[in-house]
Amino acid sequence: MPTIHHHITELQATLKPLRSEQRIALVPTMGNLHAGHLELVKIAKQHADIVVVSVFVNPTQFGAGEDFDSYPRTLEDDVSKLATVAADYVFAPSIEEMYPVLPPDTRVLAGAISTQLCGQSRPGHFDGVGIVVSKLFNIVQPDVAVFGQKDYQQLAIIKQLVRDLSYPIQIVAAPIVRATDGLALSSRNQYLTTSERQTAPVLHQELQRLAQQMSSGLEDQKQLASLLAETRAHLTTAGFDIDYLQVKTEALQALTDGQSLRDNTQNLVILVAAWLGRARLLDNQVVIFE
Ligand code: PAJ
Repeated sequence: MPTIHHHITELQATLKPLRSEQRIALVPTMGNLHAGHLELVKIAKQHADIVVVSVFVNPTQFGAGEDFDSYPRTLEDDVSKLATVAADYVFAPSIEEMYPVLPPDTRVLAGAISTQLCGQSRPGHFDGVGIVVSKLFNIVQPDVAVFGQKDYQQLAIIKQLVRDLSYPIQIVAAPIVRATDGLALSSRNQYLTTSERQTAPVLHQELQRLAQQMSSGLEDQKQLASLLAETRAHLTTAGFDIDYLQVKTEALQALTDGQSLRDNTQNLVILVAAWLGRARLLDNQVVIFE
């Protein structure tokens, strides 16, 4: 069983003597763990000797009216699951431990990258992610930290944070773990009713279809706009309420106007957020040009 620490000083006292000889990995989570999170731990194990998993439902990344209160908190279950993948330590602080002053006076703002896509529909969300991840980095001081590609924008923001604040931490990206029908695993999938759950894989299917159309022969942005309109129509008909569906460069920059898609030196990524009933589902698909 992993050892659980609720206090920063205790966790740091435990890790201090281990640091000189062993590499430490951090896997930040909000708990209610599923196979996607456990995969992150397995990947962390490949990069380090010791894996610390943080479990903290971070209040500063939830907006007013969002699901902070109802977000599932299942620490006991999480710890049992973490034992199956040999995580070494669980850091599960209280809100007071993480935020002596709430909201904190100090801000960590990621700039333009954080105000588009999810940042547009969830203002301030990535400011909350920025400060909590900075704090976790400072508390654990890991050699490596693992984040999932499912939250593509979050991963890009973390990479920027590490670059801009000179954190001596290697960021490892973990591929999206999906259910057998293609739905990306998420703690929020449990908000879906039985019939919504049956519809949910359409999101991934539509992204795959669009990616395939883009990679086989699509040249200009006008064609892309009509393919996007078609995908939006399919999703809406299936019952999704689309928050955004966009194509960006892998670094999350807008496509240059008028430029052929194949002229882009970077790969492209399709990003989507869509509501299905009470669940806001996120997914993305990198487009590899043939
Ligand atoms: P949470 O949603 O619990 O996710 C924790 C980590 O698991 C993130 O890096 C996320 O991208 C990854 N993850 C979730 N579902 C995944 C899946 N199906 N496949 C692969 N990876 C997946 O993301 C957060 O928590 C928070 O914002 C956090 C970074 C912990 C800061 O509070």
